[in-house]
Amino acid sequence: MDAKVLKALNEQLNSELYSAYLYLSMAAFFDSKGLSGFAHFMKVQAKEELEHAMKFYEYINSRGGRVELYAIQEPPREWASVTDAIRAALEHERSVTRAIHKLVDLAKEADDKATEVFLHWFVEEQVEEEKMFSDILQLLELAGETPQALLMLNAKLGERKA
Ligand code: FEO
Repeated sequence: MDAKVLKALNEQLNSELYSAYLYLSMAAFFDSKGLSGFAHFMKVQAKEELEHAMKFYEYINSRGGRVELYAIQEPPREWASVTDAIRAALEHERSVTRAIHKLVDLAKEADDKATEVFLHWFVEEQVEEEKMFSDILQLLELAGETPQALLMLNAKLGERKA
């Protein structure tokens, strides 16, 4: 595999691990506020991110590349409000989308068709990820952080299936 593509795939593996770390940190933030439904939602999300990381792991391995694990950045622990945390999650997903798109460009430049096809799943997944956080944010912005709105959303998010 092209050395630049391999490095970028390993970096994305790290970034997916950071996503898991970030969402676990958000889960802890919500748990500390007694919002167990929000926390559950973020724990499920953290697990999904670990699955994303493993997809990169297995793909690199299947192409005969060496998986390299780098230090994972420390995530924030506090957010100004529930809405602020969800907004940060949405912004994070937008940055992940940009990174995936850059990876696609890199695979194209290297004429690496297999990597391009592998990345298609992530391109589609990012549409879902952005929509999911965008929908929650929209509800929070519409209703405001009233106790009623928070309790309603907390119950709804607590139902998320793994
Ligand atoms: Fe791995 Fe949330 O994208």
